[in-house]
Amino acid sequence: MSRKIIVAGNWKMNKNAAEGKALVEALKGELADISFDDADVVVCPPFTTLGSVIEAAACSRIGVGAQNIHWAASGAFTGEISADMLVSSGVKYVIIGHSERRQYFGETDATVNSRLKAALGAGLTPIVCVGETLAEREGNRTEAVLARQIREGFAGIDAAVAPGIVVAYEPVWAIGTGKTATPDVAQAAHAFIRSELAGVFGTEAAEAIRIQYGGSMKSENARELLSQPDIDGGLIGGAALKADSFAKLIREAIAGSKN
Ligand code: 13P
Repeated sequence: MSRKIIVAGNWKMNKNAAEGKALVEALKGELADISFDDADVVVCPPFTTLGSVIEAAACSRIGVGAQNIHWAASGAFTGEISADMLVSSGVKYVIIGHSERRQYFGETDATVNSRLKAALGAGLTPIVCVGETLAEREGNRTEAVLARQIREGFAGIDAAVAPGIVVAYEPVWAIGTGKTATPDVAQAAHAFIRSELAGVFGTEAAEAIRIQYGGSMKSENARELLSQPDIDGGLIGGAALKADSFAKLIREAIAGSKN
């Protein structure tokens, strides 16, 4: 099964409206020589930067995503953003359940599940993050944690829409630390995630779901990671904040995926 790779930049809490616009303008230039048939390229700025980034990306094939979504359609949820608000602004993707949200903002597998249902209901492409902490890995609980995150996060989702979901495997110990999972370690986790997805949605849907790797991915390691059979892209933090490093990483990812 060949899956089109997807490389997404998670800008986290970086870049104001003007900086975001400038980054996308520069990225368009840097990516002039790549074929977007080889890779989906997405940037996920903060909410207040979405408008200027969507405008800057309008005449390009760069997709734009948000970093969170609320599950309710509207109402008394101060500080939250609904699916309709994202869709009507031109947003196409949304990151759900990033480990920083689980760690600092009380996100759980249950809230991930509610947000995922809202995103799918609105036609957004969700990027659902899973991954174990260092303590969980050292305690040999990686598979149990991933299995729980998938079982609970994806509960009640129709297998017919599952191929449209993107999963991001982000081992928490590799995020922003410079410690990347080795290609073998990452591939093993991705294969396990795909087998768990098959348990939930069936083999055919699981084979179609794209699984990104995230955690200190950069141009130097992107090629080898993407040459693994179950690694279908990347969710990039630090290396996505500069147009030249992100573009270089995308080119390496495409090259790796063709190995
Ligand atoms: P870094 O690439 O900075 O390690 O961040 C990864 C990440 O959390 C992307 O969502």
